Amino acid sequence: MKHYIRGRKLALAAAMAGAVAALAFLPAWAQMPQRQPEVKGPWMDKNLSPDKRADLVLEQMTLDEKMQLVHGAGGFNQAGPRSNGGAGVIAGIPRLGLPDVQLADSAVGVRAAAERGRYATLLPSTIGEAATWDPKLAFEYGKLIGRELRDQQYNASLGGGMDITREPRNGRNFEYQGEDPVLAGKMVAQLIRGVQSQSVIGDVKHYAFNDQETGRGIGNVKLGKRAMRETDLLAFEIAVTEGQPGMVMCSYNKVNGDYACENSYLLDSVLKKAWGFKGFVLSDWGATHSTGKAALAGLDNEESGSRYFGDALKTAVTNGEVPLARLDDMVHRIVRTEFAAGIVDDAPRGRVVDPFTGAELAQRIAEQASVLLKNDHGQLPLRAATVKSIAVIGSHADSGVLSGGGSAQVDAPGAGPARWNQPVWFPSSPLEAIKAKVPKATVEFNDGADPAAAAALAKASEIAIVFVNQPTSEGRDLPTLTLPDKQDDLVTAVAAANPHTIVVLETGGAAAMPWIDRVNAALEVWYPGIRGAQAAANILFGDVNPSAKLSVTFPKTDADLPHPKIAGLDRMPIPGPDGRPRMQEFDIDYTEGLKVGYKWFDAENKQPLFAFGYGLSYTTFAYSGLKAAIDNVSFAVRNTGKRAGVEIVEVYAGLPAAANEPPKRLVAWDKVALAAGESKTVTLPLDPKFLSIFDEQKDDWEFLPGEYKIFVGSSSRNTPLTAVVTH
Ligand code: BGC
Repeated sequence: MKHYIRGRKLALAAAMAGAVAALAFLPAWAQMPQRQPEVKGPWMDKNLSPDKRADLVLEQMTLDEKMQLVHGAGGFNQAGPRSNGGAGVIAGIPRLGLPDVQLADSAVGVRAAAERGRYATLLPSTIGEAATWDPKLAFEYGKLIGRELRDQQYNASLGGGMDITREPRNGRNFEYQGEDPVLAGKMVAQLIRGVQSQSVIGDVKHYAFNDQETGRGIGNVKLGKRAMRETDLLAFEIAVTEGQPGMVMCSYNKVNGDYACENSYLLDSVLKKAWGFKGFVLSDWGATHSTGKAALAGLDNEESGSRYFGDALKTAVTNGEVPLARLDDMVHRIVRTEFAAGIVDDAPRGRVVDPFTGAELAQRIAEQASVLLKNDHGQLPLRAATVKSIAVIGSHADSGVLSGGGSAQVDAPGAGPARWNQPVWFPSSPLEAIKAKVPKATVEFNDGADPAAAAALAKASEIAIVFVNQPTSEGRDLPTLTLPDKQDDLVTAVAAANPHTIVVLETGGAAAMPWIDRVNAALEVWYPGIRGAQAAANILFGDVNPSAKLSVTFPKTDADLPHPKIAGLDRMPIPGPDGRPRMQEFDIDYTEGLKVGYKWFDAENKQPLFAFGYGLSYTTFAYSGLKAAIDNVSFAVRNTGKRAGVEIVEVYAGLPAAANEPPKRLVAWDKVALAAGESKTVTLPLDPKFLSIFDEQKDDWEFLPGEYKIFVGSSSRNTPLTAVVTH
């Protein structure tokens, strides 16, 4: 027995020695300290408010410790052993119990999992999440991201993208929330609440007006204060005040002459003073351009390095250019955010990401995010029991679904790290998902490279489903809304060969569809996430009744946009002082002002291809009995079809003529589930803020007296109920 115990002890000792030896060979990141030391101090009292705790811990800090918090310790793996593999780290102060802030890109799922052999769920694009018009689902979206961040030992999310879709060709629209400030603001607010419910610091970005990627680091956005406050800034205002994010990321571009990260109007007057933001402003990666100017304008943290907020800021504080009180304010904001989010008291411990619940949620969101754009002759849903043959064509539909590129890119299961600007297809095969619905039918695939061959297969099949795609990414805009790679020719050829052609679009946002009159049905699935194919098949075969409505206008052509060509797109780089080509600064003059998205199309009397708020169901709905007052509306909505469905009911307001506003703006909505034949009365309060205009003279919102038109219906262009109310 003794011998046995001794043997076990020896084995244990040998194993421990081996483990210690192995540790020495582990990569630096794997040796990262996982636990905070036990720290005692009055600021560790969880019963105190985050502000009080921040005051108490700030009193203990040396100047160098304060300085350490106001800049990043290096992007990605530059932070050495401190890095958890994310986009950045703010080095913590162990003696005070303050953890490293591990920042990870996580717009549509956690980025950069592959390098460390981790897994992350790819959710549908947020532009699709916005098309659910369901703030509760937005909360679920954020909660899942928060949970997977924690699982991977991150405690801060770089997500919450919400630049308004002013420029439908912007390469990042897929990671934003559409063109309407109220819809985007309400959805992001709940997404942030979901992230932060997991003891992870949430973020909204990119503040502000980073509405195009072309020249994002040198473009100067020109826009008046009223237009700013009523469009993009209204979205941020709602997200900041209702979502209470810990961080706001300022953007690369200039706004009215000053870089966003040193713009005192944006950072100080509006975000901190008018909206009462208590968290901290961090710069986009490399978007800090000065020390004193940025610090005094309201930037609190430089990412991802320390060029301006390291030694240079220390000198500026020492010589009085930046008051110590301002440095203390920066640090207070950062530390109070850490306490408020719970990352000091409840550090992530590391867990295996649960791919199953992630996939289930991704599918549920995709099913509610996919917009049925056209369905003539009852083409959809397909009748699984009677369909004999289906041609599945194009867009790698045999193997997967498309995802969005750039810092919102999630690594695909079974693949290595994604490469910048190279489209990534996720293993959710539309072909297999369709086959699974109709095991007895013939389902064949053609890759669409040769339109004639695709048309031949379509001709020989009862139904043709063409998948088309539009890859988009951070760092570049689409030159046009026309689908790339001559996919329009493919659809046209297939539609000519088969009268039962259905198009499924995997796009980052709006796309032109010159063939729309020739196909029976079209379904917009955006970038639909890890279970995108199953979600699409469920809609195509009617297991799910579609309910989503467009979060952006789909124009017919680029010519109908406020700027038929993107500002800066045709600029040629010129040699800089070092001989290397540089782009010269240029203005991005948002001459459309208030007229963003549907407001432009309404004001200019242009017919869009598909209007904002539009989307079909497999059933039909009728509206009646509007009773409107200035502070609420009520009306009835009835399911007039033969199957259960969910209708997103939309309320718009037209302001008095003196307001000089576009014809209508979204002011309220609801999502109503109705059995066949069922009718419900919907009552919705109207928020006076959403009926107001921003008065530049007063520097405040103004609810003008006069007559307000109320429009109720199923989209911004279909409002069967109207009323006039007086304020
Ligand atoms: C993007 C941010 C991102 C950051 C860190 C920047 O290029 O604009 O959205 O969070 O990189 O990866």
